[in-house]
Amino acid sequence: MSEFTEIICEKQGGICIIKINRPKVLNALVPSVFYELNQALDEIEADPEIRVVIITGEGRAFAAGADITYMKDLDAKGAKAFATHITSVLRRMESMEQIFIAAVNGYALGGGCELSMACDLRITEAGTKFGLPETGLGIIPGFSGTQRLTRLVGLTIAKEMVVTGKKIDGVEASRIGLVNKVAEDGKLMEEAIDMANQILKNASLAVSYGKEAINRGIQLDMDSAIDFETNLFGLCFATEDQKEGMTAFCEKRKPHFVNR
Ligand code: COA
Repeated sequence: MSEFTEIICEKQGGICIIKINRPKVLNALVPSVFYELNQALDEIEADPEIRVVIITGEGRAFAAGADITYMKDLDAKGAKAFATHITSVLRRMESMEQIFIAAVNGYALGGGCELSMACDLRITEAGTKFGLPETGLGIIPGFSGTQRLTRLVGLTIAKEMVVTGKKIDGVEASRIGLVNKVAEDGKLMEEAIDMANQILKNASLAVSYGKEAINRGIQLDMDSAIDFETNLFGLCFATEDQKEGMTAFCEKRKPHFVNR
């Protein structure tokens, strides 16, 4: 993969690991991080081998939010453009076939929390601090945090987190359903890679259809969402992997998926 400056990308077989790389400022997010991330997404989409992307942070934070020194002098138009750019990259991640896992280390505050929420799955450590502290800076979350947090944890907790700006640790984040798993201390990346490998064992089209059915379905009324799911369910039966998966079960052996 290309060499970047604001991020580090490394391909390990079917997995691409992306590290946000501004550790001196706890990976505070500026537009260049997202220009590079978007370029990395182009390369990921063009590489059929990559099926899982793990996003993490270099140093002691996943990301401690959007860069406050960058945002301080923005006017209303500039701030909206900043948020529009970043939310378009986050939305792109949700529409891609690959599964995104956030391996959330240290701090996921503000934009860092929002970046993790745009991933499909989140794994963290007990001591990691999550929060949307924007109201304490005179702003609201602008990278879709009010929307994604509400969809992930519900109105009650999302409102409390947004209006109080309180920080919660990894254990609490797991309890409220904001993260999928709390890794043992020091084993965050190992456990994120284990999670990626569990996904890689499955039929890739089925995995992508599962992601699409959930992401699209949640935006639709129930009947349309069910229609959407049944269409994708039908399409699975046009794949070689469905035949192989079910034949392997009947023959009491492991399937050999070809990702078609
Ligand atoms: N924007 C810009 N710089 C940031 C930043 C942010 N969101 N978060 C951290 N940094 C910088 C600090 O200014 C500091 O820079 P310096 O060494 O030049 O002074 C460096 O990162 C290290 O942070 P520091 O505050 O010294 O570390 P800490 O361990 O004492 O505290 C945090 C860690 C995360 C609690 C604290 O940095 C913080 O509250 N950050 C802002 C969180 C926030 O409000 N995010 C939402 C933004 S919308």
